[in-house]
Amino acid sequence: MEVKIDPCTGFCFGVKRAVDTVYEQLKKGKTIYTYGPIVHNEEVIRELEEQGVRVLDDVQALKALPCGKACSGEAAGNSAMVIICAHGVSKQVYEMLEEKGLEYVDATCPFVKRIHGIVEKESREGKYIVVVGDPGHTEVKGTLGWCQGDAVVLETVEEAEKFVPPEGRKVFVVSQTTFNYNKFYYIVEIFEKKGYNVSVANTVCSATEERQRSARALAEEADVMIVIGGRHSSNTKKLYEICSEKCAKTYFIQTLDDLHLELPKSVRLVGITAGASTPNKLIEEVQNYVRINF
Ligand code: F3S
Repeated sequence: MEVKIDPCTGFCFGVKRAVDTVYEQLKKGKTIYTYGPIVHNEEVIRELEEQGVRVLDDVQALKALPCGKACSGEAAGNSAMVIICAHGVSKQVYEMLEEKGLEYVDATCPFVKRIHGIVEKESREGKYIVVVGDPGHTEVKGTLGWCQGDAVVLETVEEAEKFVPPEGRKVFVVSQTTFNYNKFYYIVEIFEKKGYNVSVANTVCSATEERQRSARALAEEADVMIVIGGRHSSNTKKLYEICSEKCAKTYFIQTLDDLHLELPKSVRLVGITAGASTPNKLIEEVQNYVRINF
């Protein structure tokens, strides 16, 4: 039996940059907070927590931090450093950081930052923004927080079919960076067929596109696929969705502990792929386990 690792695994550019930023700031001896989990991988977060990094879950938690400089009658003297997570945040969070005089470093992935700029500009010009993505995902919530005026999030083909833009408004469509590339274009086609006045920016990031293509190709030839990644990782969920379409026996695991593999003798090829925030160490553990035990 052969075990093949997807050549496109490992931290993507944005995740590596964000995780490196946190380790870099840790060296300075400050109390480090990340606004939101720095990336969507529980193992990465656990390791950072062990180093003393704390996660601020929402605006309320940020509000509760003491000011960095004298503000609202409060004394100065907070030596905390806040790091904005790779998925980005709304404009309101930046305003609050400034208001509280907190020191911060922006580790938003540049591909996500680009979307913030696009929706801010286009919405300011009066266009109605459609974000194709998961409404519950941090990145999408952050993106909505840059739209000046109303906007909508659509995730499924059914939602896209039902969508009717507000009377007389031009529509501008962007996607969550980790959205399924083919599905995004399918949704755009629906709007075009309906004759809506739409402009589109393909904001699915190139790392995502490449990973999805590579995972699909591996799943096509594999008898069993293992997808490793965080429970809340959007790009891992998409990889799982894509691999499941091509390979009926696809497993989604976070760590080796979740893997309860049964391999019949007929299995010739096991493929392993992983989300963009999955550490190599986890991929190697799974690979070694499969090689040694089967
Ligand atoms: Fe950035 Fe793309 Fe990774 S948006 S965080 S490089 S998956």
